Amino acid sequence: MDERMVTGELQAEEFSVELSLRPTTLNQYIGQDKVKENLHIFIQAAKMRNEPLDHVLLYGPPGLGKTTLAAIISNEMGVQFRSTSGPAIDRAGDLAAILTSLEAGDVLFIDEVHRLPRAVEEVLYSAMEDFFIDIVIGTGPSARSVRIDLPPFTLVGATTRAGLLSAPLRDRFGVLSRLEYYETKDLCAIVERTAEIFETSISKEAAVEIARRSRGTPRIANRLLRRIRDISQVKGETEISYQTTELALEMLQVDDAGLDHIDHKLLKGIIEGYKGGPVGLDTIAATIGEESQTIEDVYEPYLLQIGFIQRTPRGRIVTPKAYHHFGMKVHEDE
Ligand SMILES: Nc1ncnc2c1ncn2[C@@H]1O[C@H](COP(=O)(O)OP(=O)(O)OP(=O)(O)O)[C@@H](O)[C@H]1O
Ligand SMILES: [Mg+2]
Repeated sequence: MDERMVTGELQAEEFSVELSLRPTTLNQYIGQDKVKENLHIFIQAAKMRNEPLDHVLLYGPPGLGKTTLAAIISNEMGVQFRSTSGPAIDRAGDLAAILTSLEAGDVLFIDEVHRLPRAVEEVLYSAMEDFFIDIVIGTGPSARSVRIDLPPFTLVGATTRAGLLSAPLRDRFGVLSRLEYYETKDLCAIVERTAEIFETSISKEAAVEIARRSRGTPRIANRLLRRIRDISQVKGETEISYQTTELALEMLQVDDAGLDHIDHKLLKGIIEGYKGGPVGLDTIAATIGEESQTIEDVYEPYLLQIGFIQRTPRGRIVTPKAYHHFGMKVHEDE
C-alpha cells in the first residue's frame, strides 16, 4: 500500500493522470474564490492594457492547485506556458537561457521558487523589475558584463511557504495569492468532476465522504477516489457506494478525520513521549523518524488548521481536541 496515502506529494506514476484532471480555465477551477476573483480582475486589466500580467506568487500547502492555477493564468492570458523549478536551475546561465528564449507576454512558471540558488535568484531581480539581465562574460581581468534586454514576461512562482522566500524576491511579485485548504463542498465538487472524467458514477454520500476525509486537498481527494474506484469496480458495483467508500478508506488507513498513520505517529509521539508537549520540531522529527521540513510543510499545516496541534514559543503542543480524537485522556499539567 502507498505509504503516504494522504500526503500532498506528487508521485511519478500519477503525473499523467494529474495532467488529465487539471482544469484549464478559471471557471473550471473549483473553490479558492478570493484568489480566483482577484486573478480574474488582474488578467482582464492586463489584457485591456495589452500588457503582460504582473508577477504572481502562489503559496500554500502541497496539492492545493498551484501548478494548475499557473497553467490557467497562461491559458487565460492566451500566452505560452514555460515551466521549470527552483532546484532545476543550477547556474545563472541556465536562467539566462530560459529568459532569453521567452516571447513577449509569456508565463514563466518556477515551482519551488524558494529553492533557487542565490546567484540565480539575483539574476531574477532585474529580470522581474526592468526586464533585463546583466551577464558576466569571461573571468579574471578580462571579465565584462553584458546587458541583455528581455521580452516583458510574467513570472509565476509557487512555494509551499512564502516565509521561505527571501525578502527581495518576495517584494518583486505584484500579486501574492495564498491558497487555502478547500471546504468539503468544493472538494466534493472536485471529486464529482474527476469521477465524470473517469466516466465513473459515484453516490453523493460517497463523494461527500471522500471530500471530508481528504485533508482539504484536491490531490488527495483525487488519489483516494482512484483507489476507491478500483475497489468498487472489483466488487462489481455500477456506482461507487458509501459502504465501499467507508471500507476502502479503512483499508487505506485513512481515519475519520482524514489523518493517516504518519499523522497518528506524529500526534501520539508528542502525547506519549512528551505528555502532549511543548516539544521542539526537531525533537519530534527525530522521535518519529521524519524530516523536520516534511513535517513542517506537509503534515503540520493541516493539523494546525483543524486545531489538533498548536505552535507555541516553547514548541508544539497537542490540543485536547486531538486527545479526544484518539479517545485519550488529556495529560494533567505538572
Ligand atoms: N481548484 C481545483 N479544481 C479542480 N481540480 C483541482 C483544483 N486544484 C487542484 N486540482 C487537482 O489537484 C491536482 C493537484 O494540483 P496541483 O498539482 O496544481 O497542486 P500544487 O499546489 O501545484 O501541488 P505541489 O505543491 O505539490 O506542486 C491537479 O491534478 C488537479 O487535478
Ligand atoms: Mg505543483
